[in-house]
Amino acid sequence: MASSRNPAQTILAIETSCDETAIAIADFKRVPTAVGTRVRVLSHLISSQAKLHAAFGGVVPNLARREHEKNLAPMLMTALKEAKLKNRKRLTVGRNLHAILEREPMLLAQFRKSITPIDIPDIDTIAVTYGPGLAPALWTGVNFARALAHLWNKPLIPVNHMAGHLFSAFLQKSEKNDFQIANFKFPILALLVSGGHTELVLVKKPWQFRVIGETLDDAAGEAFDKVARILGLPYPGGPEIARLAEKGNPEAYPLPRPMLHTNDYNFSFSGLKTAVLYLVRDLSPYETRSHRADLAASFQAAAIEVLVKKTFRAAKEYKIKTILLGGGVAANNALRAALRAALKKEVPISDIRFPISDLCGDNALMIAAAAYFCGKKKSPKQTTLLRADANARLDINAS
Ligand code: KG4
Ligand code: ZN
Repeated sequence: MASSRNPAQTILAIETSCDETAIAIADFKRVPTAVGTRVRVLSHLISSQAKLHAAFGGVVPNLARREHEKNLAPMLMTALKEAKLKNRKRLTVGRNLHAILEREPMLLAQFRKSITPIDIPDIDTIAVTYGPGLAPALWTGVNFARALAHLWNKPLIPVNHMAGHLFSAFLQKSEKNDFQIANFKFPILALLVSGGHTELVLVKKPWQFRVIGETLDDAAGEAFDKVARILGLPYPGGPEIARLAEKGNPEAYPLPRPMLHTNDYNFSFSGLKTAVLYLVRDLSPYETRSHRADLAASFQAAAIEVLVKKTFRAAKEYKIKTILLGGGVAANNALRAALRAALKKEVPISDIRFPISDLCGDNALMIAAAAYFCGKKKSPKQTTLLRADANARLDINAS
């Protein structure tokens, strides 16, 4: 990619699509002599609400929104302190702050108390997740970012959350807090597996996303969470299932591999979850507890087999050079091992990349990276039109 398209930039990114409030400040700089882009992380904060939602067995959208409202301003202040950016004296106070935050009285009060009085930090752009995700949670982040862009007169980049997950696999640790993003080899195929989505995304050239397959019902992470609940495990269930499955026999229960042989790249996990439910119904609570590891391992093996086989079928068809894994379920070691094994056997010419474990779940550094490489800046004036979109699609409304 030409450096003129990607001049050095300091980006402040905000992510509130689900139950993590995240803020990152990072410097992106292309290094022409080296292999790609250097990312200096100045601050990288994530506040998880998982414990709060665990009591309800899943994420409660309005509770998530309230937590984001509480967290955003204090986290921004911490991020700015950590980043130690130069400041510029603010000359005018953004007059429309009240209008932008009219539905966010808590944010408005926090803005007035802590953000309005400070000088403008030396950032180039603000990036924010506009969707997909939970509408009330997204709106809080979008309104917060719009108010900041207005107050500081900075351009705003709306970022698709799934584009963020896609870029997370490119962020490889270099030294201390820094990352490096190697030059991209196209075509790219990304398997994005999170709590809300399961998608196979084809990227033939920068940065045209085409979703070639997706789940027709439950997302992969959602299936892990629901099966965990059936087995009496706490939320979020993905890590619990993964931990138990290590001790279980993946062949103990012959479970279905939904849509494995269909002539497309779509997925379905709801029937698999129901198959586990029926199995457990026929067991006594004691039997379920004592066979939990085998049940978890059998479910996980079925889900992984479909994900991996369909990914590699697509990789062959589209002559993929780089396979990426992203989303919360990317933390699953058995899935990574199965993808690596398939790569050795089936498509040895491709390169495969996994996000470091800190970046599998929701975070704002991945949003900053997506903004840097494929974001479309909105001028401070245009930001008034920016809306959250709970159902935003990567291919139609790509960031
Ligand atoms: O990407 P993410 O943090 O949030 C969404 O955008 O949805 O993904 C969260 C999902 C949850 O369903 C969680 O159970 C799942 O990722 N997850 C895992 C693992 N760690 C998190 N699923 C399987 N194995 C894991 N190790
Ligand atoms: Zn996510």
